[in-house]
Amino acid sequence: MTTPEEALEKIHARFGAHAGHRVLHAKGVHCTATFTATPEAASICRAAHLSGETVEAKVRFSNGGGDPTVPDYAPDVRGLAVSWVLPDGSRTDLLAQTLPYFPSRDVDGFFAALAISKPGLGAALRLPSFVAKYPTAVRRFPETNKALNSRVGFAARRYFPFHAFRFLDADGGSRFVRYAWLPLVDEPEPSKAHVKALGRDYLFDDLRDRLEQGPVRMLLAVQLAGEGDDPDDPSAAWPHDPERRVELGTLEVTAIDDDADDGIIFDPMRLTDGIEATDDLVLRYRPDVYSLSYARRTQG
Ligand code: HEM
Repeated sequence: MTTPEEALEKIHARFGAHAGHRVLHAKGVHCTATFTATPEAASICRAAHLSGETVEAKVRFSNGGGDPTVPDYAPDVRGLAVSWVLPDGSRTDLLAQTLPYFPSRDVDGFFAALAISKPGLGAALRLPSFVAKYPTAVRRFPETNKALNSRVGFAARRYFPFHAFRFLDADGGSRFVRYAWLPLVDEPEPSKAHVKALGRDYLFDDLRDRLEQGPVRMLLAVQLAGEGDDPDDPSAAWPHDPERRVELGTLEVTAIDDDADDGIIFDPMRLTDGIEATDDLVLRYRPDVYSLSYARRTQG
C-alpha cells in the first residue's frame, strides 16, 4: 500500500511541489454558506444538519490540480468541499468533485490515473498497463474527459463525492446512500476562446461576480442503494433510479470569505452521529494523506 509520504511524492511527480499549498486542489477560494434540509432528509437520517434547522457551513471551491498557478481555462477537476457547523459546535464534512467516476475500487487506480494524466512520454508508456488493469475506467474516458474539459462556472456544475455512507434514522433504521451536489442554474458551455479572453482566474472571478448579485445555491441529493449496489466500491455505477433519489436540502453560498482561516482540513471521514463510513478502502485511506498534506502546508 502506498504510504502517505509516497502518496505525496506521486502527487508532486504529477503537479510539482508548491510550498504552502494543498498538494491537490491547490487553487481555491473559501466561502460562507448556510444549509437548510428538506423534511425528507430527517426521515432518512438523524444527523443534526439534516434536521431542517438552517445551519452554517464553510465552503471551499477549488481546481483539482496541485499547481496553484495553472489558469482556470486548463482542463481540470473542480472541487466543492463543505464543512457543516453543527449546533453543538462540531463539524461534519463532505468533499466532492466534478468527475463522474472514481477509477477503481482501491487507491492504486487513483495514482495510476494521476500518472497517465500527465502529458508526455511517461504517460504514453504507462497507458497500455492502465488499459489492461482498469478497463472500466477506460470505457468511461469519454465522460471523464467531458467533465475535465467543461468550462462552465463553479455554480453550474455537478459535484460527486463517490463514496457511499450509511444513514441512520431516529428510529434505528439504516440505508446506504450516495450523494450528488446539483446546480440550480443551467449554463451553455462557453467557448475556449471566450474563457481565455476572460483571463486566468475566470472561474473564481465569475463566482465572485455571481455572489455580488446574490447567493449561489446547490441542491444536495442522495441515491439510496438498491439490491446489488456495492457500498464499498467508490468506482461502482449505481443504476439511476428516480424512485430511489431523495433531495436532502439546499446549500446557499452567500459570499467569498477572503478572511477565512486556510488552516482548515476538509476531512472525508469527519462524520457525525447518523452518518457512518463503509469499508470503502479509498475513503478509509484518504484522511492520513490529507493530514500529511495539511502538516506540510501549514508548517511554514
Ligand atoms: C486516494 C484518493 C485521494 C487522495 C490520495 C486525495 C488526496 C488529497 C489531498 C492530499 C488533498 C489536500 C488536503 C489538504 O491539504 O487539506 C485533497 C484535497 C481534496 N480532495 Fe482529495 N484525494 C483523493 C480522493 C478524493 C476524492 C474521491 C474526492 C471527492 C470525490 C476528493 C476531493 C477533494 C477535495 C474537494 C479537496 C479539496 C479540499 C479543500 O478545499 O480543502 N479527493 N485530496
